[in-house]
Amino acid sequence: MSTSRYRASVRKANIVVLGATGAVGTVFLRVLEERKFPVARLRLCASPRSVGRRLRVFSQEVPVEATTPAVFEGADIAFISVSGDISRQWAPVAMRAGALVIDDSSAYRMEPQVPLVVPEVNAGDLAHHRGLVSIPNCSTTQMVMALYPLHRANPIQRVIVDTFQSVSGTGSRAQQELTEQSRAVLAGDAAVSRVYPHQIAFNVLPHIEGFLENGYTKEEWKMVEETRKIMHAPELAVSATCVRVPVYVSHSEAVHVEFQDPMSPQEARSLLAAFPGVTVVDDPSGSRYPLAWEAAGKDDVFVGRIRQDASHPRGLALWVVADNLRKGAALNAIQIAEEVLKRDLLLSRTAR
Ligand SMILES: NC(=O)c1ccc[n+]([C@@H]2O[C@H](COP(=O)([O-])OP(=O)(O)OC[C@H]3O[C@@H](n4cnc5c(N)ncnc54)[C@H](OP(=O)(O)O)[C@@H]3O)[C@@H](O)[C@H]2O)c1
Repeated sequence: MSTSRYRASVRKANIVVLGATGAVGTVFLRVLEERKFPVARLRLCASPRSVGRRLRVFSQEVPVEATTPAVFEGADIAFISVSGDISRQWAPVAMRAGALVIDDSSAYRMEPQVPLVVPEVNAGDLAHHRGLVSIPNCSTTQMVMALYPLHRANPIQRVIVDTFQSVSGTGSRAQQELTEQSRAVLAGDAAVSRVYPHQIAFNVLPHIEGFLENGYTKEEWKMVEETRKIMHAPELAVSATCVRVPVYVSHSEAVHVEFQDPMSPQEARSLLAAFPGVTVVDDPSGSRYPLAWEAAGKDDVFVGRIRQDASHPRGLALWVVADNLRKGAALNAIQIAEEVLKRDLLLSRTAR
């Protein structure tokens, strides 16, 4: 398809990665290589601290540049993996330069005209983009990957989720903090907390992002709102408790689901196993279930411990684990770009 709204087929894209040195950016460059993403020209940007560093991508040393308007000139796609306020500064600049922005931050996710996309679930929403697509919060992405194949077969009415989120979800500084605090505690020294309000080493924090007036945290409320938006289910009842745990990579989630009609664990296993990007690991007798350690570095979302919810006749309980830096961020962003290229959805300059 190629109309005046869209550019003629782009087979190799000029790409800018803003935040290339961060926790997500680092994995992003690896996934770009693994998937042999069709790159014509690659430019990498970060904060002034990183300018001059060279990052190895596609067997080449690519310099990290200062983030300036000139960097985005001629770009087809700008992948933005920085904080929300920095994204708000640069996303409009990239769009004005003609790039499609794929944004990892929370800055634009809930704006009505911005598609919030997990390609396996709602790639169709990409057709409505106006130059910017958001990816969801990492804890939301892996949950909707597990919910959607079930929801399609038997509408979900209510979800209760408790998360166990790794420190890489906060970024590279939090990963360093866990290492430093662990060393300090094991050496009998006091742990110094800079990133989190409390020590994370050997601890569990029921507090991710700031608190809202309703008592939930922002992270928990993202899971409510983003899940409804991605699944096109505005009435879906969702309640989340988000917890930070001393794990480097992969988020784990205990999810309780109430359906319109009863669903057996075996039917859920079959639906999940048939869904792209989901692997069922569910053999309790052999102590086989999804583990954060095993999911790290893998692309799929892993689901196990699938059982009848003893507290509800139409309920199931699930355990869902995924690498937050891959499917939760970098991989999902690249999959969006792949869909955009496949569907010829890069906007023409006049359509902006
Ligand atoms: N981590 C996850 O699992 C995850 C999942 C989904 C979405 N996200 C979102 O992805 C974004 C990035 O997260 P992250 O975990 O990768 O964070 P991070 O490790 O802290 O990395 C932040 C990146 O932003 C760059 N940066 C900082 N200040 C800048 C500036 N003034 N101008 C240009 N670049 C600047 C940093 O460059 P320097 O290295 O030079 O400081 C670094 O490349 C966030 O919005 C986060 O919410 C993260």
